[in-house]
Amino acid sequence: MTKVVLNFKTYAESTGMAALELSRICEEAAEQYDVEMVVVPQIADIRLIAENVSIPIYAQHVDGVGFGGYTGHITAASVKAAGASGTLINHSERRLKLAEIEAALSSCKAEGLATIVCTNNIATTKAAAALKPDFVAVEPPELIGSGIPVSKADPGVVTGSVEAVKRIEPEVGVLCGAGISRGEDLKAALELGSVGVLLASGIIKAKDQKKALEDLLSGIQR
Ligand code: G3P
Repeated sequence: MTKVVLNFKTYAESTGMAALELSRICEEAAEQYDVEMVVVPQIADIRLIAENVSIPIYAQHVDGVGFGGYTGHITAASVKAAGASGTLINHSERRLKLAEIEAALSSCKAEGLATIVCTNNIATTKAAAALKPDFVAVEPPELIGSGIPVSKADPGVVTGSVEAVKRIEPEVGVLCGAGISRGEDLKAALELGSVGVLLASGIIKAKDQKKALEDLLSGIQR
């Protein structure tokens, strides 16, 4: 099933009660399409959303530390207890070192959380795939927030990532992101071999978030 992952980042339009409202819009839209719609709110908003909405919730980041003296860190156990079923790791806006990515993945696996490791090009996609997350999400940083869809501006990074992952760890799903907002962008991303998209501003900053999401999901066959 196509995976559509909406990263709430730290936009005002997707923080606190606005995060809950947007999650409700996502839940409603997901019912109408053959799609797994995932919301990715800030950590502090996870529990509120989990108590009110039944679509999957992922954290934006998890640290590879366990219980103990790690003030300010985010543990896999805490996001799971709050109601998340997965997490992003190594988003371009929250980059980690290779050893930290591996540690975060181990913590998530121990807690049974689904994992999406974000990458910025084919080389980092290869390295991430070797660590066996559930998904990698390739996003050229220069296209993030640009409104120029990766599926049109840099289709080679998507097809190259898909081919590389097939050779290295075929079980790992490839998502792509950056500048995706319309149905045609999503359709093009799927045609390039990705199993879904990771996106943010095209929906979150839209005047009418519901309409924007419906436009996006119209790229999936009903
Ligand atoms: O995590 C999704 C993201 O980095 C892409 O952002 O605003 O280009 O959809 P945007």
